Amino acid sequence: MSASAYALRMCGIVGYVGERSALDVVVEGLKRLEYRGYDSAGVAIRDDAGELTVIRKAGKLANLQAALAEASEADLTGTLGIGHTRWATHGAPTDRNAHPHTDCQGAVAVVHNGTLENFEVLRDGLEHRGHTLLSETDTEAVAHLIEEQYDGDLAAAVRTVCAGLEGSYVLVVTHRDHPDLVIGARRNLPLVVGLGEGENFLASDVTAFIAHTRTARAIDQDQFVELRREGVRVTDAQGTEVDGEVFHVDWDTAAAEKAGYEYFMLKEIDEQPEALRETALGRVDVHGRLMLDELAMSDEDVQGLSQVIVVGCGSAYHSGLVAKYAIERWARLPVQVEMASEFRYRDPVLDRHTLVVAISQSGETADTLEAVRHARRQRASVLAITNTVGSSIARESDATFYTRGGPEVAVASTKAVMTQLVAVYLVGLYLAQVRGYRDGDEIRSHFADLAHTPDLVAAVLGRMDPVRKLAREIASCERVLFLGRHVGYPMAMEGALKLKELAYVSAEGFPAGEIKHGPIALIEKGTPVVVIAPRHALTPKLVTNVQEVRARGARTIVIATDGDDSMVPHADELIRIPDTKSLLSPLLTLVPMQILAAEFAMARGLDVDQPRNLAKSVTVE
Ligand code: F6R
Repeated sequence: MSASAYALRMCGIVGYVGERSALDVVVEGLKRLEYRGYDSAGVAIRDDAGELTVIRKAGKLANLQAALAEASEADLTGTLGIGHTRWATHGAPTDRNAHPHTDCQGAVAVVHNGTLENFEVLRDGLEHRGHTLLSETDTEAVAHLIEEQYDGDLAAAVRTVCAGLEGSYVLVVTHRDHPDLVIGARRNLPLVVGLGEGENFLASDVTAFIAHTRTARAIDQDQFVELRREGVRVTDAQGTEVDGEVFHVDWDTAAAEKAGYEYFMLKEIDEQPEALRETALGRVDVHGRLMLDELAMSDEDVQGLSQVIVVGCGSAYHSGLVAKYAIERWARLPVQVEMASEFRYRDPVLDRHTLVVAISQSGETADTLEAVRHARRQRASVLAITNTVGSSIARESDATFYTRGGPEVAVASTKAVMTQLVAVYLVGLYLAQVRGYRDGDEIRSHFADLAHTPDLVAAVLGRMDPVRKLAREIASCERVLFLGRHVGYPMAMEGALKLKELAYVSAEGFPAGEIKHGPIALIEKGTPVVVIAPRHALTPKLVTNVQEVRARGARTIVIATDGDDSMVPHADELIRIPDTKSLLSPLLTLVPMQILAAEFAMARGLDVDQPRNLAKSVTVE
């Protein structure tokens, strides 16, 4: 295996300098960032004797905590430290490849998120000049390069080294000679500063420090941070100080805790009614007109739009598919939806009459960020829909609609998807309002229905015991299919994605009308088929599709609206949801599928917060 195969792709990083035990702050921060990667973890603490103690362990953070418990307390007593939790793309993560990495003297410790493309050249050069590199990571080279450049000015050494790095990185660096300095550097990946009193923090995202401070500053592309107890200096690559935006994080600390739930995912599913309410709150003026100041477009520009293109990855892409139905129906604008990872490679036709909507919970997904950059280069207007204030996608877009879902820690997205749906409905209604395609009464009526959905979601949550029981019953199945029509189709894909990522079974979502063109061959006796069948003009056609799969032995699990009995004769299991307009039905149909996937995975003894091979935000292409 080549050394670069171990390159780091996605990780959580924490840096701290203050008055408290750095170990406690760093480990607590890593706990909150563990969703970003959990292949290995490590810390470097500058102890009171001026030595750097590095402890790192393969596996989840719990392994590191066990190793820390056995280490000498004196070595770990200090008020300056850095930490890392890692997600590697290839190869078995080992203690040796875990961060932090050090130089030949053990004077410099470095943690890194990203990939250095010129790593092999750098490594060869270092070895040629007599350095011994002990791991297979690209990061270790950085520690040795800093060693070479260091002449007492750590910030200058890091800037010089970064000038020679190709690829993407967030680096956080400490040196044993500096009791009051942690350096951060960023290119293409997220880095945020937490501003405290007599203490300051660096992290991949704000959840790492919101227990200590809610005041934050995002670091921009190619900027460097000098973090000290009494202040933070941010510079450009030349070392000139630069200004930046300080923002307040209003996320509740409790929202980033499990609060008695076995898994974050279960808590986040239960938080959905509140998340929906928050996202829809305050969107109407006293005359009942929708307000979407976030769009930051004049009415004239909205009226001049010729198309909308929605981009996102994974679940965010599924939210985008729902946007197509909503925007085309209400605002009569053509909408294309594209996986962000494919978007810019096909040279899409964009101009200043195009609105690109980029959906991303984290606001850091590399493919979505690149799609935003591409769209802006082509002069399209970009609206970000994101949950993360100050994220790269928010900062690089023309306008941002913040979903107000609060922190989502479980890797599988639940409440964030729901709030994205609310956001796309609101964007659809707003475009309809400004373009004059729907009259005020109709828009008010749709908004009233949307505003009522949190109560309906709460009602669905209250009915989920039979779904849990059913999930346990079918948990030994290795294949599950999901069928839907209209907006039920993207939800079928979302239901399948939840199940495959959590339970590692083969799950596919199809438009119900398509299955006879191939996928029906997958049906065997007893194959569970989840049918998303809220009341809709297309329900009779769905009935036919359900009969088709049932005739081939499928066990049909039908999600149907209260009072609609058309599916009853064809359903082996019936899951009822309250009535709502069919366009809004994804907000309700999603809930049983989330519960089904979580319970199915738990019945298999799996960790639903941290599924294998995954990480929460994917900051590489
Ligand atoms: C699935 C899931 C992923 C994300 C995708 C995009 O449960 O969470 O498919 O939706 O990685 O992430 P964001 O929304 O952060 O851009």
